[in-house]
Amino acid sequence: MGIVINELNFSYTQKKILNNITLKIKKGKLTGILGPNGCGKSTLLKTIIGYLKIHQGEILIENIDKNNINKKNLSKIISLVPQKSNLMADMSVEEFVLLGRLPHLKSSWDGYTKDDRKLVGENLKSLNLDKFKDRVALSLSGGEFQRVLLARALTQMPKILLLDEPTSSLDLNHAMELLTSVKNLVDENGITSVAVLHDLNLASIFCDELIIMKEGAILYQGLPKDILTVDILKEVYNLRAKIIEDENGCPYVIPLI
Ligand SMILES: Nc1ncnc2c1ncn2[C@@H]1O[C@H](COP(=O)(O)OP(=O)(O)OP(=O)(O)O)[C@@H](O)[C@H]1O
Ligand SMILES: [Mg+2]
Repeated sequence: MGIVINELNFSYTQKKILNNITLKIKKGKLTGILGPNGCGKSTLLKTIIGYLKIHQGEILIENIDKNNINKKNLSKIISLVPQKSNLMADMSVEEFVLLGRLPHLKSSWDGYTKDDRKLVGENLKSLNLDKFKDRVALSLSGGEFQRVLLARALTQMPKILLLDEPTSSLDLNHAMELLTSVKNLVDENGITSVAVLHDLNLASIFCDELIIMKEGAILYQGLPKDILTVDILKEVYNLRAKIIEDENGCPYVIPLI
């Protein structure tokens, strides 16, 4: 499912946080959102999933105005791996991941089915988290819990997966593993994914397309090789950098002192 955003404006107080955003996010691709701290990346994801009500503009999911999709249907379609989570205190990892099935329950009286639990088991296994199944979620390390958040989002079986800094607590090996899982989902199951990332090199390796935001506006959108350039990095981050390319033309950013 593709996402189209037209002339979106949003503010928490008087100050405009999202400034006239017009954007197309391609179906079945992994799109990275980059930009300095505080430029509005998390706010943009929260407007797409509907946690924040937009004041002006429209968001279309597969050509349908998001306001015309009811909440329950929307939560079957889109899931978000948040930057921060209000963790339910003493749930086990399994119970926490099962929350991803809530939008799919026929009624609030129904409990989880055998299939729900089977799916949770499979997702925990595929992310190498099955050893934590019975642990209290609160007792996990930051990185372990971040991967559990992805497991919960996958258990929702969304068509659109939004990820807000999904690798911020992960060591490089686990960051590579997590983004490989997401990229496989995108390539094999046709899921549309949007990931806010700060690591420019991970963004370059995994994303099909990159969007650069600054001060609430979209500055650039395009292929990693066209976005990760010396001039753009200087303009957006005031960063001096050298770019090298691997044999496939994938750019890598080396920051210079
Ligand atoms: N609930 C809120 N009330 C008021 N201002 C807010 C609120 N949430 C965020 N902001 C402000 O809106 C701006 C954009 O915040 P947002 O979280 O979208 O930034 P971000 O690009 O995700 O940054 P980061 O890279 O640090 O996560 C920031 O200046 C932030 O302080
Ligand atoms: Mg953020």
